[in-house]
Amino acid sequence: MSCVPVTTSSARYEVLIDRGLIGRLGEITVERLAPRKARRAFLAFDSNVPASVVEAASGSLRAAGHEVSSAGLVATEINKSMTELDRLLVAIAESRHERFEPVIALGGGIVGDLAGFAAASYRRGVPVVQCPTTLLSMVDASVGGKTGVNLSAVGGDGGEETLKKNLVGAFHQPLVVLADVSTLDSLPDRHFRAGLAECIKHGMIAAGLGFGGGSGGDSGHNDVGLFDWTLTSMAGLLKRSAAPLAELIRRNVAVKAAVVGTDEREELPSHQGGRALLNLGHTFGHAIETLRNLSPDGRMENAPLHHGEAVGIGLIAASHCAAAARLCSASLPRTVESAVTGAGLPTKLAGLPSAERLLELMSHDKKVVGGKLRLVLPSGDRIGVCRVVEDVDPKAIGAGWDAVRV
Ligand SMILES: NC(=O)c1ccc[n+]([C@@H]2O[C@H](COP(=O)([O-])OP(=O)(O)OC[C@H]3O[C@@H](n4cnc5c(N)ncnc54)[C@H](O)[C@@H]3O)[C@@H](O)[C@H]2O)c1
Repeated sequence: MSCVPVTTSSARYEVLIDRGLIGRLGEITVERLAPRKARRAFLAFDSNVPASVVEAASGSLRAAGHEVSSAGLVATEINKSMTELDRLLVAIAESRHERFEPVIALGGGIVGDLAGFAAASYRRGVPVVQCPTTLLSMVDASVGGKTGVNLSAVGGDGGEETLKKNLVGAFHQPLVVLADVSTLDSLPDRHFRAGLAECIKHGMIAAGLGFGGGSGGDSGHNDVGLFDWTLTSMAGLLKRSAAPLAELIRRNVAVKAAVVGTDEREELPSHQGGRALLNLGHTFGHAIETLRNLSPDGRMENAPLHHGEAVGIGLIAASHCAAAARLCSASLPRTVESAVTGAGLPTKLAGLPSAERLLELMSHDKKVVGGKLRLVLPSGDRIGVCRVVEDVDPKAIGAGWDAVRV
């Protein structure tokens, strides 16, 4: 088992990574709650997680002495809503859940964000145990304490439906995170690949955080950092081989832990980077994620894009934007593109609206401060270092969008 400690200004906890951890959920929860004892536990689970996993979780909680109530959640961005939050809170309240009793979030990032926010707000905060079951939630969403829901709205020239992503939420650090790698066995390929986009993102900031390495560009650096390791391990990762997969999760959680450890609430001034660096590719990505009619292959039945797919496209757009603004080498975007392609993710989109409309959607991103769009962009000539940049020339942003337009 690997264990990555997370230490923030408000909490210390561990991310445990192994196969079979869900069978030990009850025992580990009791251990982490001690000296407090909880009579009840509330299990919020993703309805696509196999029944055997949900039963293993509730069985383990019962064996550890908890009365277990549960609610199944249908994980869509539309459902990551105030309405679903209300439904979940009512179910928690009806189970007579008390102040120090845990909510268990068993599912991907949607369930983790929603159940985490329910735990943050119910009785002004009850403990939450995050049990991520997607690659994306293991390497990213379950770590760092961000929880929340989307707001829905109608807007835009074409009157297209947009979602205000993650606009309402709270910081609520988990008691412990159990990344049971065996839960990924049932994860559909498209979602698995979406998780790889966040790993590529981490590889693009890791060297700047002191994790070593860096590659590509014109400098000739080729020491093996996270980005290179991910690229060279891609074949094994796509086959979901146990050893590289556990290593991928461990290395990525370590990057996320380092970032949230220095800047829990994303408060550091932008020139110091901090948590804002995790938004690499996200301001572009969020803009396209709000457009519900886009799909990775142009086929409506595959719309909308998944979060990780939008991030993958966002990483490419950000790299081209940085190259156009002469912040990074001209060859860096090609290296990023080949990583995104290698992960089997889309690199271009059909049906993107005008550059003006996309810029407007980007300016709705909640990361906008004082009306100023701040972008995280690759910096220098090697992959692994990024910085936060304000007032990027709209032409450079347009060049980023052009690079991902079919
Ligand atoms: N809180 C954070 O710091 C943070 C960070 C990154 C992303 N997020 C959020 O995470 C969400 C995306 O999370 P995600 O990529 O995990 O997607 P998701 O939660 O939508 O899950 C993807 C799909 O896989 C299904 N699923 C989950 N686990 C499964 C399993 N083991 N077997 C079979 N099917 C399974 C789900 O039902 C869903 O259909 C977004 O809402 C994003 O905003 C939050």
